[in-house]
Amino acid sequence: MKKYIIAIDGPAASGKSTTAKLLAKKLEYVYIDTGAMYRACALRSLWDEIDLQNTGQLEKMLSDISIEIKYSAAGNQIILDGKKVTHRIRKADITKLSSEIAVIGAVRKKMVELQRKMGEKGGIIMDGRDIGTIVFPKADFKFFMVASVKTRALRRWKEAKEKGEELNLENIEKELIWRDNNDSSRKIAPLKKAEDAIEIDTSDLTINQQVKTIYQIILERTCRSDIS
Ligand code: DC
Repeated sequence: MKKYIIAIDGPAASGKSTTAKLLAKKLEYVYIDTGAMYRACALRSLWDEIDLQNTGQLEKMLSDISIEIKYSAAGNQIILDGKKVTHRIRKADITKLSSEIAVIGAVRKKMVELQRKMGEKGGIIMDGRDIGTIVFPKADFKFFMVASVKTRALRRWKEAKEKGEELNLENIEKELIWRDNNDSSRKIAPLKKAEDAIEIDTSDLTINQQVKTIYQIILERTCRSDIS
């Protein structure tokens, strides 16, 4: 079977990452969470005490940043400049800062360059905001996942609760709305559905149903193109 490039975009907590992870396992593909890369960038800017308005400081940081995504059975590990930051980058301060740093052209240029290199050989599922529009506009498959803000906030709340964290549902909802706005209103590579992407509303779907829906579409399309 050809090693396809599969792009999954959509707003925060729309089900992208969980679906992409499980689908990658099923297809034996590599899974790349590009949000984690912007989060790693944000963390490094915090370590270096970078003023995001200072282009010189930013470019210096980007010239020697190292971001690795290492496969592990328990989930991918994110390594920033040799340090494991998998959990640190999920904290609220980095969530906000990653959306802020992602509006900067120099940052996006560097991340897109790294992402294209990671995906060039195919056999990859990449999730993010601009994968189907900018990173791989010719991806073999493009999906755009959406869900109501209420559903997404509840998902985040439940995830946190399972980890023993008690969060305020209303605050999660506010944070999601802020991020949706920031990610979709920026000038460069805003969050938006590629014209040829298939939209999947996950509001009323279980994770298994989300994976199954995408898997079926891939199977149907590949069979058809194998014949023609
Ligand atoms: O997917 P995530 O929530 O971990 O992403 C964190 C932030 O990174 C998100 O608010 C916007 C930015 N991002 C982006 O601009 N482009 C991507 N391809 C992935 C994430």
